[in-house]
Amino acid sequence: MPHSVSLKPAAARRSSDLSGTVRIPGDKSISHRAFMLGGLASGETRITGLLEGEDILATGNAMRAMGANIRKAGDEWIIHGTGNGCLLEPEDVLDFGNAGTGVRLTMGLAGTYDMLTRFTGDASLVKRPMGRVLDPLRLMGVQVEASEGDRLPLTLHGPRTANPITYHVPMASAQVKSAVLLAGLNAPGITTVIETAMTRDHTEKMLQGFGAELEIGTEADGARRIGIVGQGRLTGQTIAVPGDPSSTAFPLVAALIVHGSDITIENVLMNPTRTGLITTLLEMGAVIDIMNERRAGGEDVADLRVRTSDLKGVTVPADRAPSMIDEYPVLAVAASFAEGETVMPGIEELRVKESDRLDAVARGLELNGVDCTEGRDWLSVRGHPGGKGLGAMTKDAVVETHLDHRIAMSFLVFGLAAEHGAFVDDAAIIATSFPEFMDLMTGLGAQMEFFA
Ligand code: S3P
Repeated sequence: MPHSVSLKPAAARRSSDLSGTVRIPGDKSISHRAFMLGGLASGETRITGLLEGEDILATGNAMRAMGANIRKAGDEWIIHGTGNGCLLEPEDVLDFGNAGTGVRLTMGLAGTYDMLTRFTGDASLVKRPMGRVLDPLRLMGVQVEASEGDRLPLTLHGPRTANPITYHVPMASAQVKSAVLLAGLNAPGITTVIETAMTRDHTEKMLQGFGAELEIGTEADGARRIGIVGQGRLTGQTIAVPGDPSSTAFPLVAALIVHGSDITIENVLMNPTRTGLITTLLEMGAVIDIMNERRAGGEDVADLRVRTSDLKGVTVPADRAPSMIDEYPVLAVAASFAEGETVMPGIEELRVKESDRLDAVARGLELNGVDCTEGRDWLSVRGHPGGKGLGAMTKDAVVETHLDHRIAMSFLVFGLAAEHGAFVDDAAIIATSFPEFMDLMTGLGAQMEFFA
């Protein structure tokens, strides 16, 4: 399901005293996987708290097109899956809109089947590299017809019997790890993935929850090894999706940098593979109280009380990147209001997200008067505590978001603390991951609006 093609510019003005208690929509990574595994498993899966963003709905439509029955009843999504190994050939091309996770994981899930599956996406997704998933699929016997540079649109045709492989993931990528594990569900024997840097582990945890047999261990060099036994039975589950820490990052940073703020964000997923931003902000001097820590649906969850803070620049360890990979744009915003310099090394992967995020952030910060330097795989930002002199000096100073929801949200948050506010060329794209963003932020007292 593609997001709205018409761009909706938006503005944020300097605000004060954000206050209130909010609940963040469900985690995007878990929501994608809930639709995929529910759609594949035998029997009934019931999901509450699902993120109803455009990205997730596209994954739901793809699973329907391959035979899953998915419907909503009240607050619950109810799925009757096909059974492992029993996906049907989709009649039409599967259009994933803006969703990299949706398309890459589904290529793994369906690509090894002896059927034709066609994949496409929006103007952002067709620019993103798919070779990282196509390479292991080719090793498993999948025939690939892709657009130039292993990009979308592309067609997959699996072999009669897929070849179980052992695959070293060459970059820190949960999407590649997950695609190979999901492909392994349809291969006889054990498919193994080895990752040097630990990335988010939702696929492993949820596969185990649905009854797949996994062996998880450590290599002599410390790398993580995950083996999945293929062609087993998956059984429908009941899933309560916790709040998305990557969406939480926006009101969280807003409260830190907007004068006089005190907010509480409830039910936030605190899986350690996702909490790098909180660790970094605490090092910067952020006042974040982690309250009511508990377990829910096999995950750590907590409520966060966040107050305006005097932030100080830090150097973020490069090996923390996988646990906060989607949070660098909004960290750069926090750094813009911190005392001193914040250095972010080891973030080359930002160049292949929904946009080239390193470039989009650097251009947006420069446009708004922030002193920053961009390297091939790093960014450094020198902050202006108080935000004096920052922001859009003219109506023409509009940040280009490049169909990237996190760039749009980051610069709207920036505008809440900058003397002159900020403009973005599009906020419609935010609906891919956080449709409630504008309402939630204005409900906390943020001055933010669409303009024509
Ligand atoms: C995701 C993994 C990350 C992240 C993306 C969601 C996932 O991508 O950026 O938003 O759900 O597996 P990579 O694994 O490619 O770094």
